[in-house]
Amino acid sequence: MRYHTNMKKNSNSHSKPLTLLGGITAESFLKEYWHKKPLLIRGAIPEFKGFLTPNELAGLACEEDVQSRLITYVKKEWKLEQGPFAEKRFVNLPERDWTLLVQSVNHHLQEANDLLQQFNFIPYARLDDLMVSYAPDGGGVGPHFDSYDVFLLQGCGQRVWRISEQKDLSLLDGAPLRILKNFNTEQEFTLSAGDMLYLPPHVAHWGIAVGDCMTYSIGFRAPTAQELAGEFLNYLQEHRSFSERYSDPNLSVQEHSAEISDDMVKQVSSMLNGLRWNDADVADFLGQYLSEPKSHIVFDIPKNMSLPAFEKRMRADGIQLSFKSQLLKAANCYYLNGEVIVFDADSERLIMKLADDRVLSSHDFYDDANISDAFVAEMHDWYLAGCITFQ
Ligand code: SIN
Ligand code: CO
Repeated sequence: MRYHTNMKKNSNSHSKPLTLLGGITAESFLKEYWHKKPLLIRGAIPEFKGFLTPNELAGLACEEDVQSRLITYVKKEWKLEQGPFAEKRFVNLPERDWTLLVQSVNHHLQEANDLLQQFNFIPYARLDDLMVSYAPDGGGVGPHFDSYDVFLLQGCGQRVWRISEQKDLSLLDGAPLRILKNFNTEQEFTLSAGDMLYLPPHVAHWGIAVGDCMTYSIGFRAPTAQELAGEFLNYLQEHRSFSERYSDPNLSVQEHSAEISDDMVKQVSSMLNGLRWNDADVADFLGQYLSEPKSHIVFDIPKNMSLPAFEKRMRADGIQLSFKSQLLKAANCYYLNGEVIVFDADSERLIMKLADDRVLSSHDFYDDANISDAFVAEMHDWYLAGCITFQ
């Protein structure tokens, strides 16, 4: 179902100077720094100390559906272990030079979601996840570069960041992680709790813990052309049917029976050249692909609840997208966790708000005129599938 919408999110919110960005507006940040040059922001989140203890982080790293890595540097050798870990793995670790990294902490904690919301001046389609790391003195992942933008927010403790816009990005052979062969420090900063460093893709960096240190990385996704092409071809296969069949009424005897003739190549080539797509197909593909949960994600299914009981609770408490849900809009269609959603035209305002803010509070349900039976039924289905929860 497609609807035209005149709804525009108030762009004023992105024209205000933000402490998070060191007193510049989101608009100036995007124009001057995003994808262009590093930015160090002292006191980006004043009083920020993080919301996980090292023990809680290790607890997450022991869970089945959480992606985590333990990296150690012993006797000049890098080692990488993938989680989930047994609790005993965290007993008797060396006093220094290791780090534990946990991906997608935003799938598990409200505080992590609240933190990511502060970065909503970047479209959700670009946001990947919140990774949290813990390292004792000297720990880190070594000098490397990433292919995507990242905000490195310091939680508790301190970390020295060395950065370099060097051209030589050759990697150490045989290491289990991507370590730069040659790293030439151009700038060095010590970040304390609440300080943040923004790095565009391909800026070499090396973070070294100074004492116990936790870093919160807000990472973005930037699919490669290879990945997009592969996924889009899968999409076309699922969404298109082709009725034409190869035919050869003018077949003539060939000298070599084993040869695929030039005529056959030309005919198949012209059949394939008939494959066309437009922006609407690409928007539909992106809506599905970018809202699709990663393969390891499992939604938590709540206990059954009747429709009337659900509606009562929704109106009283409000609802929110569950932490693992992604609701995106593309070309006037909406996509929830990889699937296009169908709703009545009257509900679009609420759906857009839920997509933008990830919550609908009880205030949003005061005016009965806003809420159709179809909307309540749809939300009830989402709730039972674990895609939304109560606030
Ligand atoms: C870390 O938190 O130690 C690693 C972050 C990064 O370098 O991308
Ligand atoms: Co990095």
